[in-house]
Amino acid sequence: MHDGSGRIAVQDLTKDFGPVRAVQNLSFTVEPGSVTGFLGPNGAGKTTTLRMLLGLVTPTSGSATINGRPHDQLVHPARVVGSVLENEGFHPKRTARNHLLVYAAAIGMPDQRADEVLGLVGLSTAADRKAGGFSLGMRQRLALATALLGNPQVLVLDEPANGLDPEGILWLRNFLRSYAREGRTVLVSSHLLNEVEQTIDNVVIISQGVTRYYGSLEQLRKSQRSRVLVQPADAPALVKALQEGGLTELAPNPDGRVAVSGATVQQIGDLAAKAGVAIYGMQEDHADLEKLFFQLTQPQFAAAPPGYPQQGPPQGPPPGGFPPPPQYQQQYQQQQTPPPGFQQQGPHQGWGGQG
Ligand SMILES: Nc1ncnc2c1ncn2[C@@H]1O[C@H](COP(=O)(O)OP(=O)(O)OP(=O)(O)O)[C@@H](O)[C@H]1O
Ligand SMILES: [Mg+2]
Repeated sequence: MHDGSGRIAVQDLTKDFGPVRAVQNLSFTVEPGSVTGFLGPNGAGKTTTLRMLLGLVTPTSGSATINGRPHDQLVHPARVVGSVLENEGFHPKRTARNHLLVYAAAIGMPDQRADEVLGLVGLSTAADRKAGGFSLGMRQRLALATALLGNPQVLVLDEPANGLDPEGILWLRNFLRSYAREGRTVLVSSHLLNEVEQTIDNVVIISQGVTRYYGSLEQLRKSQRSRVLVQPADAPALVKALQEGGLTELAPNPDGRVAVSGATVQQIGDLAAKAGVAIYGMQEDHADLEKLFFQLTQPQFAAAPPGYPQQGPPQGPPPGGFPPPPQYQQQYQQQQTPPPGFQQQGPHQGWGGQG
């Protein structure tokens, strides 16, 4: 028997489609009682990962389990995990209720469950309409109703907010949160952080098949501390003065300024004045979560945010403006430590595994 925990565990998961490495050494767990966002841009490997979790694609290596077992070894899979993947098809001539009755019978659920789940997703009034005439949002709701038929312990949803109107998104958010509050496990993918930000507790961010961040959303929020961008006359002298003053979170900004985290403008100004380093300008910079997400998922186009080591393949200077002079870079590299939740992972320069 499975362990009954409702835990999703993805371990060193890799998938190659011929020459395309869709997913690379992905590891994360999703605990019951929480909603985890699975985030990444188009082509990042989200759907491929979820399909491996649901036994629809065979991993090249590694494992994905629910309740400690691969999907094909679950005894009553529909009662353990309900899922909505991309492009769910419905028989266009079949009514919503009939569609659900067919699926309910297939997994051994009583007929009345069809009407229950129609009620849960707000489709009761459309129960006798043909699915072929449903709008995108209505189809999403019907797909979710189908996933809920077996009253599953675990819900896996691929971009469920696609096609939903604002009211639908709000409804989905409340639904998923209350589902998790019942001690169930919810894994929900999206390519937009702000779409799921208010729904999720934890987040796995991937890009190019590699983990960029894995941890609580709270921790990700905390890591977006504000920083001060300083334009000194003599950058190495400023760095030395700040380090001697106990400020260690220093990084070069692509435009040549020094980015200082964990310090106020006044602290920096005082230390610079004491060391006799002229300052031509200081600017407070507050990165928002969306910007951080963009930076985490677009390493090939953007410099890593200062204080965040450069991530993901290919390693090396991004085009334009970077890196700073070599002696400067050297000095900074010694200073760079990832903030909590960001951890160097294996040989791929990904970030993963919250402690
Ligand atoms: N069956 C397949 N055959 C070949 N390549 C595939 C196949 N499925 C996925 N891929 C490739 O794997 C990579 C990851 O695709 P995937 O669909 O998992 O991304 P995604 O994160 O779900 O993107 P989106 O946000 O656009 O849905 C892409 O480069 C894609 O082209
Ligand atoms: Mg996808």
